[in-house]
Amino acid sequence: MKGENIKLIVPTMTLRREFLEMARESMAAGSQKNYWGFEEALDNFEPYTKKLLDYGQGRNLPEGWVSASTFWLVKDDETLLGRTSIRHSLTPALDQRGGHIGYYIRPSQRGQGYGTLILALSLEKAKDLGLKRVLVTCDDDNIASARIIQNNGGKLADKTKPEGSELPTRRYWIDLT
Ligand SMILES: CC(C)(COP(=O)(O)OP(=O)(O)OC[C@H]1O[C@@H](n2cnc3c(N)ncnc32)[C@H](O)[C@@H]1OP(=O)(O)O)[C@@H](O)C(=O)NCCC(=O)NCCS
Repeated sequence: MKGENIKLIVPTMTLRREFLEMARESMAAGSQKNYWGFEEALDNFEPYTKKLLDYGQGRNLPEGWVSASTFWLVKDDETLLGRTSIRHSLTPALDQRGGHIGYYIRPSQRGQGYGTLILALSLEKAKDLGLKRVLVTCDDDNIASARIIQNNGGKLADKTKPEGSELPTRRYWIDLT
């Protein structure tokens, strides 16, 4: 990874082909139906991308949603490695599960440190948004995600059992100051 040109970018129509490739790969690998928006993107890429940009600006948010900035992790300006969303604030539901940041690395690119990198870069974006500390959560059995959070300075606050979820959720705080 050292020396690679990898960064977070704002979603863009110009990476349509690459994004749809990532979405197809993720769906084929069994990603939960529309959890990351992949299914929706496959059907309607342009409205999907525009919606992400709107949500970052607090426009056209569904009832009860907070603004959220989405970024894509891209290598050499052309290969999509994953995506991340940074919620600008917490709702009671996000406080229990979901937290400020949700990240995803496409299946073919896992196990190379990109998960740890995408959270590190997301923390910089969260800082730019003025957040002083962020909540990051993961299912109790998501060992890779727990490592990623710990690698980025996460301190385990507690484990909760939100309504409707089968597993306990680990809640970590990361100080950005
Ligand atoms: C979780 C996820 C982001 C990990 O991405 P990744 O690119 O494989 O992560 P990394 O390569 O940075 O690995 C992070 C750590 O997890 C460990 N790890 C990776 N895959 C693992 C696995 N299957 N089992 C156990 N540990 C694993 C790595 O060894 C590394 O540990 P280390 O820092 O101690 O060396 C990816 O699997 C994913 O997108 N999953 C679906 C979405 C998700 O769960 N997102 C998190 C929401 S809370």
